[in-house]
Amino acid sequence: MLIKPIHQKIFEKAKPFLRTRKNLIHTRIALHYALKLLQSEKGDEDVVIPAVLLHDVGWKTIPANLHLTAFGPNPSNPKLARVHEVEGAKIAETILKHFQYPSKKIKEICRIIRGHDTRKRPISRNDRIVKDADKLWRYSRKGMAIDRERFQIPRREYLVFLEGIIDQWFLTPTGKRIAKREILLRKHDAGEFKG
Ligand SMILES: [Fe+2]
Ligand SMILES: [Fe+2]
Repeated sequence: MLIKPIHQKIFEKAKPFLRTRKNLIHTRIALHYALKLLQSEKGDEDVVIPAVLLHDVGWKTIPANLHLTAFGPNPSNPKLARVHEVEGAKIAETILKHFQYPSKKIKEICRIIRGHDTRKRPISRNDRIVKDADKLWRYSRKGMAIDRERFQIPRREYLVFLEGIIDQWFLTPTGKRIAKREILLRKHDAGEFKG
C-alpha cells in the first residue's frame, strides 16, 4: 500500500495508540478501502488518509476490559464511544501539529474524528469517504471474522445483516459497490456457491 511519506510518518506515530482492540489491523484495512474509494470518489487524500489513520487512536485511553461495553449490537456503555472520538481528536491534533501539518486540514481531520461513529450525517465529502472506509472493514474477510468472534454471531445471520444494511449505511456509490462485491466474496468464503 503506497501512501505519501508524510502520511506514513503520521501512521508510525499513531501505531502505539492503535495497539489495542485489534485497531492496527482495523486501520490497515480501512486504509486499503480509503485508497480504493479515493480512486473514484472526489476527496482530499491529505484529509482522508490522516483521518483514517488516526480515527481510532482514542481507544487507547479506554481500559481494554471496557471496550466491548462501548460498541457492537448491544452496548451497555455507549458513552465510551463518544470518549474515544473526543480523546482521539486530541491525540490526532498533537500528532498532526508535531509534523506542522496545515492547520486548515488539521481542523477538518479532527472534526471528522470527533464524530466518526456517533455523527451519522457527514460534514464533507472527505468525511463520507472516511465513514465508508471505516464500515467496509466489517465486510473484509479479516474484519468479519473478528467481529463475528467478538459478537458471537453465526456467519449466515451476520451476512444477511451486512447485506441488508448496505444501502442504508454507505454514503458513497463506490462504498456501496465495494460492500456488495465483498459480500459476494464472503459468501464464496463460506462455501455458499459450492455444489
Ligand atoms: Fe471508532
Ligand atoms: Fe474504526
